[in-house]
Amino acid sequence: PIHSSIGPDGELVVGGCSVPELAREFGTPLYAIDEQGLRDTMRRYREGLSSRWARSRVCFASKSLPCVAAYAVAQQEGLLVDVVGEGELRLALAAGVEPGRLVLHGNAKSEAELRLAKSVGAGLVVVDNPTDIEMLSEIEGGRQDVLLRVLPEIDANTHPSIATGGRGSKFGLTLAQTRETVERLRDHPRIRVRGVHVHIGSQILETAPFVEALRVVAGLGAFDIYNVGGGLGVNYSDDDDAPTIEQYLDAVTAAAREALPATAELLIEPGRSLVSRSGVTLYGVRNVKRSNSTFVAVDGGMSDQINIALTDDRFTAVIAERVAETPDTIAQVVGRQCESGDLLVDRAPLPAPRRGDTVAIAGTGAYGFTFVNNYNGALHPPMVFCLRGEPSVVVRGQSYEDLIAPHAPALEWTRRRPA
Ligand code: LLP
Repeated sequence: PIHSSIGPDGELVVGGCSVPELAREFGTPLYAIDEQGLRDTMRRYREGLSSRWARSRVCFASKSLPCVAAYAVAQQEGLLVDVVGEGELRLALAAGVEPGRLVLHGNAKSEAELRLAKSVGAGLVVVDNPTDIEMLSEIEGGRQDVLLRVLPEIDANTHPSIATGGRGSKFGLTLAQTRETVERLRDHPRIRVRGVHVHIGSQILETAPFVEALRVVAGLGAFDIYNVGGGLGVNYSDDDDAPTIEQYLDAVTAAAREALPATAELLIEPGRSLVSRSGVTLYGVRNVKRSNSTFVAVDGGMSDQINIALTDDRFTAVIAERVAETPDTIAQVVGRQCESGDLLVDRAPLPAPRRGDTVAIAGTGAYGFTFVNNYNGALHPPMVFCLRGEPSVVVRGQSYEDLIAPHAPALEWTRRRPA
């Protein structure tokens, strides 16, 4: 499922870099991104969409890989960038993303982030609720272009925690509220409604729900922009059967031809399907235990890939030193955190796994780094972008000093209040 190859010694190669060498040079756990793979997927999306619907743009859902290097690549590849909150907004600006290419999302925006977005000239603000409108009305300056996020009442068949379009979802305005808001904002001095937005969920493995969502927003009337969100699923294991990017674009643009004004602009907002295949996470094997199962225990886990436990993604693992060898062991690849749910791969066929091996889990480019945390005192791993055999560190890993530093007030506090 990843852009990778096998090197002369039977080792895994990503972006031209030997994975065992990456593990030696940068340590494990390590997030590695195949930069060319990432760029190729961005182009495939952008060219694929514009060849099917001329007035269109692809927006990188940056929550899927919120690192400055990925924002910079998205900017270079001509994408728009979806940001949620002041943090992602600032990361994007730090990466040099043109403000006009920013799409600000969020169901609980602060006044500060709206002010910042407007003052830098963010291209679009996606209105989720009436308070967004109240706050935007108070900010001086010209008219802010906005999209209205619509709650389409569609149940996409995916994990409940990432289904966002159902009746009970916290996101968006109902169809009736959307219609009413469009009317109310018609001649608003500070807000200009450019169109509508819909996003029905993530890791969706069929095209029909996207078509349905597009039809729902098309039914709201003629607008300049229709943003149909992200959500296309990917194949994590051989059991998944995700539509290809082209099949997805075919379905969406066919529906657009039927339902949207011919001059409308079509936006899509992929995250997972844009970045997941370019990422591989490397772990060091700390031990192999044969008890009632065979466990390969590695030096990371929930602290760097909690999304696996959150959404039951089923990845596959390889031993990076020996990818071509025939597996002789079915093992559970487990992390080092104190949770039974800290399971990276349930049934991984591996060739004689042993202490010191490098386990590589491919397809982890999306929503892994996003949720990095310090569970059990784990340090945030570094990230490298690999291009034509050259690894570049793009996110520094944490040190134990970094782990302890935020607790400086407590060190003082214990001195002030001796036992
Ligand atoms: N647009 C909006 C407004 C979104 O909320 C999202 C994802 C996307 C686009 C991109 O969706 P994608 O193409 O990546 O499916 N915790 C989950 C993922 C959460 C997705 C959140 N929203 C996981 O680890 O799988």
